[in-house]
Amino acid sequence: MDGAHNPQHGPHLKAVSRVSAALSSLADLQAMLKVGLDSACDLLEAARGKIFVWDEDSSALSLRVARATEKEQARSMAPENAEAGVGGAGDRERGPAGIDHPADRDQWLATRVIDAERAFFVEDLSREPVGEEGSALPGPAAEQAGFFAGVPLRSCHKVLGVLEVFGESPRCFSSDDRCALTCIGELLGVAIDRAEVLEQLRRGRETYQRLARYCLVAQDEERRRIARELHDETSQSLSALALNLRALVEVAEMSSLDPQLVERLRKIESLAQTTGYELTRIINDLRPGLLDSAGLVAAIRRFAQDHLEALEVKVEVEVKGAIPRLTPEVEANLFRFAQGAITNIARHAEASYVRITLECSAEKLILHIRDDGRGFDIAQITGIDEKTGRGRGLFAMKERIRLLGGNCAVESAPGRGTTVRAEIPLAEVRHGQDPGLGSGRPYPGT
Ligand SMILES: Nc1ncnc2c1ncn2[C@@H]1O[C@H](COP(=O)(O)OP(=O)(O)OP(=O)(O)O)[C@@H](O)[C@H]1O
Ligand SMILES: [Mg+2]
Repeated sequence: MDGAHNPQHGPHLKAVSRVSAALSSLADLQAMLKVGLDSACDLLEAARGKIFVWDEDSSALSLRVARATEKEQARSMAPENAEAGVGGAGDRERGPAGIDHPADRDQWLATRVIDAERAFFVEDLSREPVGEEGSALPGPAAEQAGFFAGVPLRSCHKVLGVLEVFGESPRCFSSDDRCALTCIGELLGVAIDRAEVLEQLRRGRETYQRLARYCLVAQDEERRRIARELHDETSQSLSALALNLRALVEVAEMSSLDPQLVERLRKIESLAQTTGYELTRIINDLRPGLLDSAGLVAAIRRFAQDHLEALEVKVEVEVKGAIPRLTPEVEANLFRFAQGAITNIARHAEASYVRITLECSAEKLILHIRDDGRGFDIAQITGIDEKTGRGRGLFAMKERIRLLGGNCAVESAPGRGTTVRAEIPLAEVRHGQDPGLGSGRPYPGT
């Protein structure tokens, strides 16, 4: 191929479109860079090539992919060169380091491209200087014969890396060669940029999940603390008050006190008792004692019966397989999930029948809660309504399951009832056998 305009665009277009197809189909940056390097090397029939990516954190060029000649591969296998790793990936300081190894020379060239922020097409490295300041390539002249093409990997005017291609003999570059390589460089730049954005997104999501988990754990701990205080302090005082009132009523009934006064005392005693029951219900909602002592199934069953049967909703609980004891965090989150679904049924569903199913296999636990109520249009709940808070309950339910590494789904339609479903993997969360189903060891306090 000569250096004049080449009317045969085929191979150049093919090389560029191969890289652009990889950009749209490959999610993995490393695979994408490899396609880019292979395409560039194949197009120029180059013996070898490398891609360096600039690492902001370490302020160094990092070798990401390399195509080596057989001679180089053999040399890199030699024990004395194993560390240098021609054809492997590794970090080196930016800038002209000691150029006593071919790998250092490649990096020196990459640094020239980065510094100049432009492409270099050199027909014969042994005869032409490289770099803005016209520096001659350091190293033994015999190693340098052959062509070199180095293009920046650029995205949004920022150079993010370098694609280098080396030939063993001199070569003239056509304008198509230059154009195709520059194009490949820009496509790879976009790929690196995209990978960085995805990485930032992943880190952001991780931070968000950590915070969400922290909030849920803090909320549970606070609920436990309030429940404990209400139980140990307020509930005890209320019981003592009710007992004293009972004794007072008995004495008053036997004395010749005004009957109206006795009746008022009875009412006060009854009020104290009702308040006690109410307080017990609140304590149980805050932290159901049953969850610790009898396990998840019993706690969910009790909560459903307490909240739904009073509304004349028939509740059935079905258990398939042996439900293991799970870690306290997992049990608390699953219980809160069921609590959210049951509270929603009580508040919104107008249901007459609810079926709760817990299904356990070796790998996963599935919890289904289905009602035959009025249902709702899920498409309308796209987030949390800022004014009414509508959607917050479903959001928290989903988040709790997601934090356990599981999936959550809500199915509903107006007039067709509602089903919520949570599925969690069990690999890391077993903690014995659910005592509510016999054969279990006692649950450790939380
Ligand atoms: N089982 C159900 N049957 C009918 N409608 C439901 C059911 N579950 C949820 N919904 C509808 O979905 C909406 C969102 O539920 P979500 O639990 O997120 O919020 P909420 O119950 O309104 O408020 P919060 O749970 O924060 O007290 C509800 O307002 C209700 O309209
Ligand atoms: Mg709700």
